[in-house]
Amino acid sequence: MILDFEKIKEAGFVNEAIDPTLDLFAEIEKLKKEKNAVLLAHFYQDADIQDIADFIGDSLQLSQEAAKINADVIVFAGVHFMAETAKIISPTKKVLLPDLHAGCSLADSCPPNLFAKLKEKYPDHLVISYINCSAEIKAMTDIVCTSSNAEKIIHSIPKEQKIIFAPDRNLGAYLIKKTGRDMVLWNGACMVHEIFSLEKIIKLKERNPKAKLLAHPECEAAVLEQADFIGSTTGILKYSQEDNCQEFIVATETGILHQMMKASPQKTFIPAPPNNNCACNDCPHMKLNTLEKIYLCLKYEQPEIILDENIRKKAEGSILRMLEISK
Ligand code: 13P
Ligand code: SF4
Repeated sequence: MILDFEKIKEAGFVNEAIDPTLDLFAEIEKLKKEKNAVLLAHFYQDADIQDIADFIGDSLQLSQEAAKINADVIVFAGVHFMAETAKIISPTKKVLLPDLHAGCSLADSCPPNLFAKLKEKYPDHLVISYINCSAEIKAMTDIVCTSSNAEKIIHSIPKEQKIIFAPDRNLGAYLIKKTGRDMVLWNGACMVHEIFSLEKIIKLKERNPKAKLLAHPECEAAVLEQADFIGSTTGILKYSQEDNCQEFIVATETGILHQMMKASPQKTFIPAPPNNNCACNDCPHMKLNTLEKIYLCLKYEQPEIILDENIRKKAEGSILRMLEISK
């Protein structure tokens, strides 16, 4: 097949009919070996993608893995900023994203031109950006962080140094509370974590009085106030394994439940209800990836993440600083 790159860009993925009798698990494994490729997957991916991945993790673990990986090709089953991060720190590798349209509402809520204006207003502030942002924002950032190392990174900065924190206002407000640092916050948010219904969560807790509420810090403050534990996806997963409690209400994207149930099959996990008619809460961007798209992406080595070298170099510094502090 001759690939039409413009068409791939428009569709976001290689759009080719696949023989329905094909064993996609076996084909993906075969292609991975042939091309010396590794498949990295975030916890928010569908269960079958998590099961076929070479490495599953939260944002920090995935970037640590991408930095040390020994492969020619990285297929990133996650969203655009994650694949971009892998390309920034592993520029000689081919980084593929099964669907280029797998974006992130939080990253989109921080346009580079507007962020540059905020920086101009606070020239003496150091910039800490949550990894859920574009390469352009990372290039304007001093230190990147994730939800699992943000506190550590803030504590590593001298107390008198003023800070801008971008782009998540909920994580930022939570960190101000935890660290006592007064930071200037960018007003961005994640559509998945802001949609939880406090009212429904409170009712669910009343109906399941033994259940503990586990919440991601991207949730709004009112939901976090109800939580028994607040942490990154890895933090939540670990807590559910180590705590004696047998029932958990989980306020983050539903993909994480797969690893929780695998690790603790005897425990009960209830997804926290969103503010609409659905019972669970999927990230529409994360869920654009499918086994079919992963197969085609490996087969044709498209769509590929390509970055402007000037931006990549600047962004690399802020990620490497994070990785150094997180060691
Ligand atoms: P972590 O996996 O770092 O907790 O991040 C969650 C998230 O929203 C990724 O998009
Ligand atoms: Fe972005 Fe939220 Fe989806 Fe994570 S869950 S990729 S922060 S929209």
